[in-house]
Amino acid sequence: MSKTIAFDVYGTLINPHGVVRELEGLLGQRAGAFSALWRQKQLEYSFRRGLMDAYSGFAVCTRQALDFTCLELAIKLSEADKEALMAAYTRLPAYDDTVPALSALKQQDIACWAFSNGEPDDLESLFAHADLHGTVKGIISVDAVKSFKPDPRVYEHFLRESAVDAADTWLVSSNPFDIIGARAAGWEAVWIQRDPTIQFDCWEWQPSTTLSSLSELSAYFSTLE
Ligand code: LAC
Repeated sequence: MSKTIAFDVYGTLINPHGVVRELEGLLGQRAGAFSALWRQKQLEYSFRRGLMDAYSGFAVCTRQALDFTCLELAIKLSEADKEALMAAYTRLPAYDDTVPALSALKQQDIACWAFSNGEPDDLESLFAHADLHGTVKGIISVDAVKSFKPDPRVYEHFLRESAVDAADTWLVSSNPFDIIGARAAGWEAVWIQRDPTIQFDCWEWQPSTTLSSLSELSAYFSTLE
């Protein structure tokens, strides 16, 4: 059976907290808390826009979440600072385990794709800066569907674009809501629990398996052959 993996991008291949260095320059010790709230609101806005059928690109969610985080934490950033942070967001770093894991899976003839809420241009920029081109067969964005994960339509879009069946498809993601979306769509799904203190939601859909890093994927997929 041929296998296909759809890799989530932000939080799984690419570190969304990679702006912390820029934030530290602006905010000092508050950078970590700022980054966490920024990411939380970005995702919340994507969920809300999906429910409202009020799609705007993921960068709009990111920018509006940035503005909200400044308000919430009573931090004044200039427009230039905000633009610089948004630009840094298109050059976020890959995690250390990303390239070795993708290379190992390629050796195992597993078709690896990127599958993300991000807009095509931003994903291209991330992949170029992190030197990830060539590690995946292609990059599939939800943008064509004008909705966000975990809308079932975006998982259907992935299957259409990559021409695979749900039963042969694994999502690999560190985001529990994404894993639940994929499982509800009939996919297998590997939850990457990068942080052992994060709990998985107690819903009726659970991961097919849980690993602590991308480095464990190759061995996991070997056991399925
Ligand atoms: C993505 C977000 C959900 O890349 O992490 O799709």
